[in-house]
Amino acid sequence: MELDKKKIAYISLAVILVIIFIFVISDGCAPDRPEMVQVIEIPDDAYGPEEWAKVYPLEYESWKKTKEPRPAGKSFYKKGWDTDRVIYDKLSEYPFMALLFNGWGFGIEYNEPRGHWYMRIDQDEIDPSRVGAGGVCLNCKTPYMDDLAEKHGKEFLHMEWEKAIAKIPEEHRDLGSTCYDCHSNEDMSLRTNRKVFTEGLECIGRKEFTRQEMRMLVCAQCHVTYNIQKDANMKSVGIEHPWVGSSWGDISIENIIAYIKDKKNIKEWTQNVTGFKLAYIRHPELEFFTRQSEHFNAGVACADCHMPYKVVGGSKISDHNLMSPLKDDLHACSKCHPQSKDRLREQVKAIQDRTVSLLLRAGYQTAVTAKIFEQVHKNETQGVKISSSLYNRAKDFYQEAFYRVVFIGAENSIGFHNPTEAGRILGDAVNFAARAEALLRQGLAVKNINVPENQPLDLSKYLNNRGVRGLDFKPEQEFEDPFGLQNIFVPRFKMGL
Ligand code: HEC
Ligand code: HEC
Ligand code: HEC
Ligand code: HEC
Repeated sequence: MELDKKKIAYISLAVILVIIFIFVISDGCAPDRPEMVQVIEIPDDAYGPEEWAKVYPLEYESWKKTKEPRPAGKSFYKKGWDTDRVIYDKLSEYPFMALLFNGWGFGIEYNEPRGHWYMRIDQDEIDPSRVGAGGVCLNCKTPYMDDLAEKHGKEFLHMEWEKAIAKIPEEHRDLGSTCYDCHSNEDMSLRTNRKVFTEGLECIGRKEFTRQEMRMLVCAQCHVTYNIQKDANMKSVGIEHPWVGSSWGDISIENIIAYIKDKKNIKEWTQNVTGFKLAYIRHPELEFFTRQSEHFNAGVACADCHMPYKVVGGSKISDHNLMSPLKDDLHACSKCHPQSKDRLREQVKAIQDRTVSLLLRAGYQTAVTAKIFEQVHKNETQGVKISSSLYNRAKDFYQEAFYRVVFIGAENSIGFHNPTEAGRILGDAVNFAARAEALLRQGLAVKNINVPENQPLDLSKYLNNRGVRGLDFKPEQEFEDPFGLQNIFVPRFKMGL
């Protein structure tokens, strides 16, 4: 009797183990990537998603979900567009940006990103100063861009905004990134759809790419920095990536700054507080991530974290509803990381908290230096000029600091995509800005001009000076402490929906 019981127990255990084994094996052997549905012909000019949707309804439905608001509360710093239909704006989050960007559109309205569905629509919703550059602003926003640029030539790049928009076929005027941008209509393989981007990659010596690299490049055709070339009348005449002298895996901030500081025809705006003509850096996700981040070195691509596989109606698909992994409950990370989600969330937060702390230090220090330049220039109009050697060195250091602050401020992961690089860049920014300040103070001291120990920033003035939509801004705190490490999230705009 005893023996039988034991026997049964052993047999049951064996059966259970076999079942588990089969389960594990079958899951382990499941295709690592979703099965490609049989390809039905999609015409060459299928810019819109309609034809593709007929063949790939699951991916289409998932893509359409980028229209939905996000659970902003799950993200620490990238709240974007919340389910209560509030959009978060960066100038309120980082008041020093209102001072530094005063002089053009970015100083008037600068919002956190939201879903892909809105990329074209948001250009209509934002303050018109942000699309002042003309047709060129459509580069990353419509799948028709290369076609339009070819058809209308350079003219299209500086075409007045309304006229440029009117050139897009009406039914697709509000369409942002779509299947056509990332997939070949012939075999669904990944491709890019921006000539400027292809030229940029060629400039750093790359033409052929692996599938894993393409899972990064389809995103990077828009999530990169670029500069708008201007003619003598400040008309937009071209776009370029500031990658001269860089190589794949090493597009450093140093190289970018060296290039944009010297190149005259990409000085797109004049900074009010200093009067300097400057270039700009935009969402440098590719540059930042690929500069030897741990994930890049481990062969991880953007799509691994932002387009994880999900099971929909019994089929496994790549999630086309791209968003912050935090808002997606870190679904993507679990594939590679055994830690609990809470632990992972803490790791993300620790990285981002450190980045924000340094960004605020660097940002406010750069703003202080900008205000002292303002004073130096004011004195100059009254005939008091500081040593030009001190001045020139200070101006050089100031720009080094400024572009670093813009770089990390514009990169969308708050340091997560490459934590050590963020620390390095911002540490250098603090140093450059502080050295510039010291040089200016030295020059002023020789002339017996007194600068207060704590240079006031007048931040409320810049925050309130933001066009029609900025008028409703009511600061909840005073922003007078230049090193105040406060980071305030003040949701301002209710999008009319
Ligand atoms: C055609 C240009 C384009 C392509 C291609 C593109 N993006 Fe974007 N992406 C944008 C723009 C523009 C926004 C901001 C939209 C807005 O705020 O209106 C954005 C926003 C996002 C957001 C924020 C979404 C949210 O809900 O808040 C994420 C995440 C993102 N992109 C990741 C990716 C990834 C990953 C890829 C590649 C698989 C990719 N993007 C490809 C242009 C692009
Ligand atoms: C290892 C995972 C991982 C990889 C790889 C990765 N990201 Fe991210 N990404 C994140 C995390 C985590 C955040 C921070 C989200 C937050 O704070 O809410 C983020 C934030 C973003 C955002 C801002 C999202 C928002 O809601 O505003 C964009 C855009 C983005 N990534 C694009 C990219 C692009 C483009 C690439 C490839 C060049 C890439 N990411 C590679 C994990 C990743
Ligand atoms: C921003 C780029 C991007 C856009 C836009 C996009 N896709 Fe994808 N898609 C991808 C990536 C990346 C993969 C993963 C491919 C791989 O790993 O080889 C993918 C995979 C697929 C696959 C293969 C099966 C799967 O789910 O992995 C299909 C089918 C597909 N997409 C259909 C579509 C359709 C239909 C649209 C338009 C409604 C679309 N895609 C829009 C980037 C994009
Ligand atoms: C495709 C696999 C893969 C995915 C997906 C992935 N990781 Fe990683 N992650 C790695 C590898 C490999 C390393 C390198 C360190 C190691 O060998 O453990 C790493 C390192 C890290 C580190 C430490 C290094 C650093 O950059 O600070 C953190 C934190 C991290 N991952 C968080 C995340 C989070 C959060 C997500 C989801 C948004 C994620 N990872 C998604 C594979 C992945």
